[in-house]
Amino acid sequence: MHWPKGVDGLSYGGDYNPEQWPEETWDDDVMLMREAGVNLVSVGVFSWARLEPRPGEYDFGWLDTVLGKLHDGGIGVNLATPTASPPPWFTLAHPDALNTRPDGVRQVHGSRDTYDVCAPAYREASRTIAAKLAERYGDHPALAMWHVHNEYGSATYSAHAERAFRVWLQAKYETLDALNDAWWGSFWSQHYSEWDQVLAPRATQYLHNPAHELDFKRFTSDAMLEHYKEQRDLLRAASPDVPITTNFVFGQWVPVDHWKWASEVDLVAFDSYPSAPDERAEQQSALHADLSRSWAGGGDWLLMEQAAASVHSHDGAIAKAPGRMARHSMIHISRGSKGAMFFQWRAGRGGAEQWHSALLPHAGKNTRMFREVAEFGNTLPGIAHTVADPVETDVAILWSPDSWWATAGKHLPAPIDYLENVAQIHRVLRDRGVVADFVAPEGDLSKYTTVIAPTTYVLSRAGAENLRWFTAGGGRLVASYLTGAVDEHCQVWLDGYLGGMTDLFGIRVTEHLPQPAGEPRALWNFGAAERFCELVELRGAQCVTQYASGDVIENQPAVTVNPFGEGEAWYVSCKLVDEAWDRLFEELKLSGPGRPGLDVVDRGPWRFIVNHTEKEEQVGNVIVPAGSWAVDKKQP
Ligand code: GAL
Repeated sequence: MHWPKGVDGLSYGGDYNPEQWPEETWDDDVMLMREAGVNLVSVGVFSWARLEPRPGEYDFGWLDTVLGKLHDGGIGVNLATPTASPPPWFTLAHPDALNTRPDGVRQVHGSRDTYDVCAPAYREASRTIAAKLAERYGDHPALAMWHVHNEYGSATYSAHAERAFRVWLQAKYETLDALNDAWWGSFWSQHYSEWDQVLAPRATQYLHNPAHELDFKRFTSDAMLEHYKEQRDLLRAASPDVPITTNFVFGQWVPVDHWKWASEVDLVAFDSYPSAPDERAEQQSALHADLSRSWAGGGDWLLMEQAAASVHSHDGAIAKAPGRMARHSMIHISRGSKGAMFFQWRAGRGGAEQWHSALLPHAGKNTRMFREVAEFGNTLPGIAHTVADPVETDVAILWSPDSWWATAGKHLPAPIDYLENVAQIHRVLRDRGVVADFVAPEGDLSKYTTVIAPTTYVLSRAGAENLRWFTAGGGRLVASYLTGAVDEHCQVWLDGYLGGMTDLFGIRVTEHLPQPAGEPRALWNFGAAERFCELVELRGAQCVTQYASGDVIENQPAVTVNPFGEGEAWYVSCKLVDEAWDRLFEELKLSGPGRPGLDVVDRGPWRFIVNHTEKEEQVGNVIVPAGSWAVDKKQP
C-alpha cells in the first residue's frame, strides 16, 4: 500500500468544500486547520458543476487558489474527481445517463449519486473531467493523493446496464447452455434461447431467480470497477508517484466486492458510519476497521470519513459524548488506519447535509467540539511512531460478499441476517480480547490457526477446497449453520450440504428446521439457539452438545467436532446466542488481553488501550481513565 505523498505520520482532516463558501473564509480555514493539526483534506468531491459550469467550459480558478493556499499552509490535498454528482446540464443533455431503479423508474438530478455507470455518455464525461484534472493538477505540489469518485454504490437496472450485463455473462459462461445450466433455467420456464432475452433483474411478479440476481450484483461491482479504473489510469499517467484510491462504503445496498476492488486501489480507504447509538457503534467501528485492514492485505489503510460529533441511527442522530470521537478514531488507528479523517471540515450552511457534524461547527472555533478536535489532532504526531508494526492475529473470520448478497433473497429456508452473524462472531471475540482478521473463502488462510465461517451460505468449489486444505494442514475450522448450503451458482450442495465437505465435518445436514421467533431452543450445558436449527446425522464426528428439547431435534447433535488430517472441523448447526458462542470460544481457548468495553490491540512493542467504560480501567501497569485511551509499551 502507498501513502499520501508528503504527509508524514498519521493523516488528520476531512472533506473540505471551499466552493460552498466565500473566498474570505479560505485563509481562515487554512489557519484553523493548522491549529487543529489537520494535514490532509479531500477537496472537490462533489464539485463538477463548479469546475465545468457549462459543457466544455471549465473554471479552475477557485481550485488553483485553494490548492495554493493549502500548500502554503503545509496541508496535503486528496484531490477528488467529481463524478459522483454530474451537473444538471449533463443529465438534461443525457437523460439516459441517470440511473434506473429496479422498479424501472429513472431517477432525476437534484440529489447526488445519480448516474448510470454503464451509460456511454457518462463514462465519456467522467473520463474527460478526470483527464482535465489530471492535466492541470497532476504535478501540483499540494497533491498528496487522488480520490476517484465517492462511495461507489449506485446500482442501475437500465437498458445500458442490461447490454453490458449480457456481454459480462457471455465472457463468463461462453454459451447460453452453460448460463441456463448455471441458473437452473428450466425452473419457471426461464430457459433462454437468445442472449438478448436476458434482462436486468428488475421488478417481477414474484421471486427472482437467485443465481440471476447474484450474477447481476457481481456484474454491477465489475461495471463500477471499470468506471474507477478508467479514471485511475488517466490519473496514473499524469502523476505516476501519487497514490490513487476511492473511499469504500459499507452496506447491503452496496454492490461492491471489496476483495476484488482492494487490489485496484493504492490504499484502501473506508468511510465508517456506525448505525446504532449505543455500544454497537464501537462494535461496528472495530468491525469496519478489521474489514478494512483485511481488504488491505493486513497492512495500512485509511479511515477516510467518519462523523465528528454524532452517531446516526434509524431514529435520528445521537450526539457523541466528549471523548467518543477520539475513541472511535483510536479504534481505527489501533486496528491499522494510518490516520483519522472526517466528513467534513466545516459544517455547511445550506444543502441537504447542513446539519451534519463537522470538525469546525457552525458556531466556529470557540466551541467544545473544535477544542476537542484540535486537542486530538495535536496529539496524533506524538503517537505516529507506534503504528509501524502490523496488527497480528492468527484468527480469521470468513467474509463472503456472495453470501451477503445471496442471503438478501426472499426465498431462503429462513430469513438470514448474514452481516449480523458475522458481526456476532466478531463482537464475541472482541469482548474476549481477540482481534480477528477477515478473509475471503478462497483467500490465503496459511497464517491462521483458527478460521470461523459464519453462515457462509455461498461456498464455491474453490472455497470448499481451500477450507479442506486449511483443515487438513492442521487448521481449526469452525462453521455455523447453512455454511456451504449452495455453490457459486446458488445451486444446493446435494447429499448433506456443507459445500460437499461431509467427510471433513464428519456429519451430514439432513434437514433445516426454522424455529419461531422468541422461542429459543436450549442446548445441553451450552446456552441456547434462536430461530434456526438443523438436523445433523453423525458420520464420524463427535457430538459436543445436543438440543435439549424440540419436536424433531431433542437429543440430536447441535455442535460437533471432527478430526480431519492434521486439524479439526467444528460445526454449529444453529444460530447460537452470544453467550453460547462465548462458551464455545472458551472451549477453543480463544482469548486476548481485551475485555468488554475495553479494546486492547498489540502491535510490535506497543499496546493500544481504548476504554469505552465509565470507570477507570487498568491493563497491566497502565491505567486508562474512563472514556479515554492510551498507547504504551507492552509489559514484558
Ligand atoms: C458519506 C459521504 C459524504 C457525506 C457523509 C455524511 O457517505 O461520502 O459525502 O454524505 O456520508 O455522513
